[in-house]
Amino acid sequence: MMQPMLEVFPTADELMRAAAERFVRGAAETRRSGHPFVVALAGGSTPGALYALLATDGYAKRVDWRRVHALWGDERCVPPDDAASNYRLARETLLDRVPVLAENIHRIHGEDEPVAAAAAYDRELRRLLERLGRPLDLVLLGMGDNGHTASLFPGAAAIHERERWVVADRVAATPAWRVTFTPVIINAAADVTFLVSGAGKAAMLHQVLDGPYQPDVLPAQVVAPANGRLGWLVDAPAAARLEGR
Ligand code: 6PG
Repeated sequence: MMQPMLEVFPTADELMRAAAERFVRGAAETRRSGHPFVVALAGGSTPGALYALLATDGYAKRVDWRRVHALWGDERCVPPDDAASNYRLARETLLDRVPVLAENIHRIHGEDEPVAAAAAYDRELRRLLERLGRPLDLVLLGMGDNGHTASLFPGAAAIHERERWVVADRVAATPAWRVTFTPVIINAAADVTFLVSGAGKAAMLHQVLDGPYQPDVLPAQVVAPANGRLGWLVDAPAAARLEGR
């Protein structure tokens, strides 16, 4: 595994601009090689600012959206128009504003029974990557203030999953039922980028990056791409407790 990269930005705005540049560069790299750009989006409150930025002319015009496949690293088990839906977040802030092809939007069916929805997404993801002959190009992740990422929460059996790419889990958050990537598919990606913003994440980011390896307590630590790049893009308030950085 390559050495993780950590970049600290003075403000959340500068963090999001750096993340947008990383997205645009990734899309350009795959285009040069004649491949589609397959990206798994994150949910929660942090990435909405990135998606909205990507939809602005300064970035959107630099991406060939017809070659982009949008997936999700996790989804809440709610209908796609629910305020808690990670699909709705990305659709409203980005996907409705750029010419991505409808057939290249691969949403998790949060409205379905969770275990069936996870199994269906696992199949869809395997079919897609087999057809494209490539791993995921980019997985965007957030980190909760309890150390979870995607919907891998502390104590989850999925943290140790070795076969399945996608599972359903009941978590200690609302909505309780989630569908989530497992470390198997996350760690097979070419690039995994965490976006962490705000003073509320400082204590947890210090534990995750500076503390002992204990993924059952700090699931974000299980993210270690086997052959891909791992980047932590954080703002100064979130980085306030990091040692020597
Ligand atoms: C979700 C996300 C989740 C999120 C973290 C951080 O479905 O909620 O995928 O993993 O990234 O909870 O959330 P915030 O960005 O809101 O702090």
